[in-house]
Amino acid sequence: EKDGHDYFMLKEIAEQPKAVADTLLGRIDGSGVLSLDEVRISGEVLREVDKVVIVACGTAYHAGMIAKYAIEHWTRIPCETELASEFRYRDPILDRRTLVIAISQSGETMDTLMALRHAREQGAKVLAICNTNGSTIPRESDAVLYTHAGPEVAVASTKAFLTQLVACYLVALYLAQVRGNKWGDEIRDVVCELAAMGEKVQEVLGTMEPVRELARGLADKNTVLFLGRHVGYPVALEGALKLKELAYMHAEGFAAGELKHGPIALIEDDVPVVVVVPSPRGRSVLHDKIVSNIQEIRARGARTIVIAEEGDEAVAPYADHLVRIPRTPVLLQPLVASVPLQVFACELATARGNEVDQPRNLAKSVTVE
Ligand code: F6R
Repeated sequence: EKDGHDYFMLKEIAEQPKAVADTLLGRIDGSGVLSLDEVRISGEVLREVDKVVIVACGTAYHAGMIAKYAIEHWTRIPCETELASEFRYRDPILDRRTLVIAISQSGETMDTLMALRHAREQGAKVLAICNTNGSTIPRESDAVLYTHAGPEVAVASTKAFLTQLVACYLVALYLAQVRGNKWGDEIRDVVCELAAMGEKVQEVLGTMEPVRELARGLADKNTVLFLGRHVGYPVALEGALKLKELAYMHAEGFAAGELKHGPIALIEDDVPVVVVVPSPRGRSVLHDKIVSNIQEIRARGARTIVIAEEGDEAVAPYADHLVRIPRTPVLLQPLVASVPLQVFACELATARGNEVDQPRNLAKSVTVE
């Protein structure tokens, strides 16, 4: 049942190219046009949307954070992403022109369910992004876009996360398409790139041996820090969450721009810092800033583990360990940048003798508050 893998988590990491491809299947036609008729919210309603609010917990929340960048960039609709457990107790401002997106692998997470109930009571339309057919969250939503990751058994979410990202990109691009905007060409290009992301994830998986070796070498560390900017920031948070839940280590993710506002005080000799580097193409300011962040922490003794695109030579001199990922459009990078972090956490946890499929104190589906 584990298909020759030692753990479900390893099997599920390996299944990601297929999970991504399956989630895209039938939703993009040959000419880069999205067909999401299954999301039964009329074009009329979608054109009227003036605010998007994404609610989710844990890893699904990180997917939602990334979706905010994509939705605002491609559609220019204001979007906020909030932890479901905070949202529902905050008296949020919603109305019939608000589109609420609830992201949940299991479809049973109590906090996310309560958040969507609250949103519907205020008259908002709720779209669920969910991996489990017929579960409570899609049943109670106005519409659903299913992720096709297949059953996820390991407690730590991997393939479900990647497919949540794919679903978020599809929704963002669909909103842009339905509403029509001046980014028409960029959007068609990105749709074509998105269609090929399964293969890029496969490429990453083929190059993970040095990451495993690196992880084994860090098994006796107490702390690992993660830095990112832009969409790399939620990727850093997700990398830290995976390491906490699997390796039971102190792991923290930061927005790289926040370093000097506090976290840089944590940098000491030989502390491993994983840095997710944005594409040097696209918005190159972001890239230059993170290169100086890497220099800053290295000057203070950090052991830098740098995740950067192929061809990005500017980071190489400051990387103690360099992990290459394929080139992608800026907003799609999380689909490839997250994979080495999953492999890293899984291997490090195993090296520490932990049971990766069933981490202590955690349950696969959190049906209590
Ligand atoms: C972490 C993890 C959790 C879930 C969270 C939400 O690896 O799996 O953080 O992402 O409990 O679960 P769902 O998506 O089922 O609502």
